[in-house]
Formats: sequence, C-alpha cells, structure tokens
Amino acid sequence: MVTALIRAALPSDEPVWRALWRGYCDFYSVPLPPEATQRTWQRILDPDSAVMCIVAEIDGRVRGFANCVVHENTWETQPVCYLEDLFVAEEARRHGVGSALIEWLRNAMRAEGWARIYWMTREDNTRARRLYDRFTQADGFVRYVLRPATAPAQ
Ligand SMILES: CC(C)(COP(=O)(O)OP(=O)(O)OC[C@H]1O[C@@H](n2cnc3c(N)ncnc32)[C@H](O)[C@@H]1OP(=O)(O)O)[C@@H](O)C(=O)NCCC(=O)NCCS
Repeated sequence: MVTALIRAALPSDEPVWRALWRGYCDFYSVPLPPEATQRTWQRILDPDSAVMCIVAEIDGRVRGFANCVVHENTWETQPVCYLEDLFVAEEARRHGVGSALIEWLRNAMRAEGWARIYWMTREDNTRARRLYDRFTQADGFVRYVLRPATAPAQ
C-alpha cells in the first residue's frame, strides 16, 4: 500500500489531469470533443461550480483523480455527491489509490454534511466493481439515457 496525498486539483495540475482524463476517455472509448474537456477543467477550477476534482499524488506526482458533482436532490434535505469519474494511472493501480480517493470523499461527506455519495459503472467493469464492493453494495438501479436524437423505443 502506498501513501497517496489526496487534495483538491490546482491550476498547475492541468497537464497531468488532461493526460489522465485522456486515459479515462480511452478506457471508455469515448471521443470527447475538446470543448467538453476544456469546460470540465474550467468548472473544476471555478469555486462557484458544483463540479469538483480531487487528485491523488504519490511522491509528488499526480497518479489519479476523481471528478464529482455536488448537487441538491429531492430525496434528502442535504446535498449529495455524484462521483462521476474515477481514474488511476495504469502503473499506479492496485496500491490503494482508488480506495484512498473514495475514502477521502467519505470523510468529506461527513465533514460537509452530504447525505450520500453515489456512482455507477458498467456492469462488466469487474475491476472497479471489486473495489466498490468493498465500500458498499450496488443497489440494483439501472441507468436509462435519452438524448435529443434518440429514436422512440418500439
Ligand atoms: C478502478 C480503478 C480506479 C481502481 O484504482 P486502484 O488504485 O487500482 O484501486 P485500489 O488499489 O484501491 O484497489 C483495487 C485493487 O487493488 C488491490 N490492492 C490494493 N492495494 C494493493 C496492494 N498493495 N497490493 C496488491 N493489491 C492491492 C485491492 O484489493 C483491489 O483488488 P481487487 O480488485 O482484487 O479487490 C482503476 O483500476 C482504474 O482507473 N481503472 C480504469 C478506469 C475505471 O474503471 N474507472 C472506474 C470507472 S466507474
């Protein structure tokens, strides 16, 4: 187990965050338009935005990140935290970095008064799911996505 320093992303993290973000998008085979990446990074640095990013630093090098959105919701009075993206550089995996990022969020939840942290992953992402199963059990909800161009279901 390595000791990772978990902290909020800083403007100086932009090159390494972008490199890790590229790895994450490649992992999901999502060719994100550059303006989406640019906008995400801007929002991460904007204190008035609901988007936040924490990074994991090992020996002075950022090796992983978690992007989250803290938002209001209809089921609780307190805000909730959506963990949208989690990524650890391939060569830094299986040393507890992913766990450390989630653990940091768990502490933030207690400190900030979030009602819960929630996230989703692909059903077949077994590596991530083994990590997640150590924190909590999947709750059985299924995701539906509707886009402007989605054809009506038959
Ligand atoms: C999923 C992901 C974030 C996990 O990050 P990680 O830093 O490897 O996570 P951890 O090291 O905390 O835990 C992962 C595994 O390493 C094991 N591990 C932790 N420390 C270890 C150590 N010192 N030696 C050996 N194994 C160790 C954990 O037990 C766990 O093993 P398991 O999967 O067999 O249960 C990372 O694999 C990743 O970025 N994957 C690609 C993107 C992705 O899937 N993101 C999630 C999308 S929702």
